[in-house]
Amino acid sequence: MHIRVIGAPIDLGADRRGVDIGPSAIRYAGLHDHLRALGHTVSDFGNIHVPQPESRPIGSPKLKYLDPIVEVSEELANVVTDALKSDQFPLILGGDHSMALGSISGVANVHKNLGIIWVDAHGDFNIEETSPSGNIHGMILAALVGQGNSRLTHIGGWAPKLNPENIVIVGARDLDPGEQELLRKHRVHVYTMSDVDRYGMSNIMSQAIEIAGRQDQPIHLSLDMDSLDPREAPGVGTPVRGGLSYREAHLAMEMVSDCKHMVSMDVVEVNSILDRENATALLAVELILSALGKKIL
Ligand code: ARG
Ligand code: MN
Ligand code: MN
Ligand code: MN
Repeated sequence: MHIRVIGAPIDLGADRRGVDIGPSAIRYAGLHDHLRALGHTVSDFGNIHVPQPESRPIGSPKLKYLDPIVEVSEELANVVTDALKSDQFPLILGGDHSMALGSISGVANVHKNLGIIWVDAHGDFNIEETSPSGNIHGMILAALVGQGNSRLTHIGGWAPKLNPENIVIVGARDLDPGEQELLRKHRVHVYTMSDVDRYGMSNIMSQAIEIAGRQDQPIHLSLDMDSLDPREAPGVGTPVRGGLSYREAHLAMEMVSDCKHMVSMDVVEVNSILDRENATALLAVELILSALGKKIL
């Protein structure tokens, strides 16, 4: 496979600085060499341009940095669409999760009926009325199904990008009250950590793949590193206890790889300033490899 690495060093969608270093940290952890050793061809677009938060007004406290986030999303969507049209697999490195607005909009330009597997401690299904923080990284999935501010929902001039029935969240353990209501109302499939504990990761991922990939639908995998337990992934901006183990996360990636539906992937929320010797970026590279075909034997 030809993999197109795209850096999205955005930290406008979250409150803590440091995720803008994520794309470099993941490259520095040896991404390209490892992907080539797996047999892939790799090219690197470099990073898209993202303004520094200090250089732009924050705007409304209920939708912080809306203007620059919309600008970055438009550009990222185009870059991702171009990669897919050239038969390349876009691997987008964040940055906070607000970058998935651009990446998934770009994939949705090419693939209608896109399925999403969103591995995250959070639902990222807030709208400005339910968000406790005003941070746009917590609103991305809602925006992609057409809920919330119209400038977020209409990247590329059209909406909605996703059918909520095609979305599966795995690893959730921190959902805001209004967000829970919205997830229920839109019938998003949510597998919580409680479900992972009860039924096991293997069963959960079989179901997730069946839902997101039904009728041969293509799947986009969005991996928020805060889905992992903070003991494994300390370098994230919004850590939540009780997350995926090292082995559960690898298994989830291996099962997505085996299903052969995945057309694109993003890896987000690596915050190197809060990290311990780049441990979270090193783990991100390992998980990317499992998702892209690495096997133990
Ligand atoms: N639910 C919280 C909020 O809306 C946290 C969101 C965290 N999202 C993330 N992509 N890490 O602010
Ligand atoms: Mn997230
Ligand atoms: Mn998260
Ligand atoms: Mn359903």
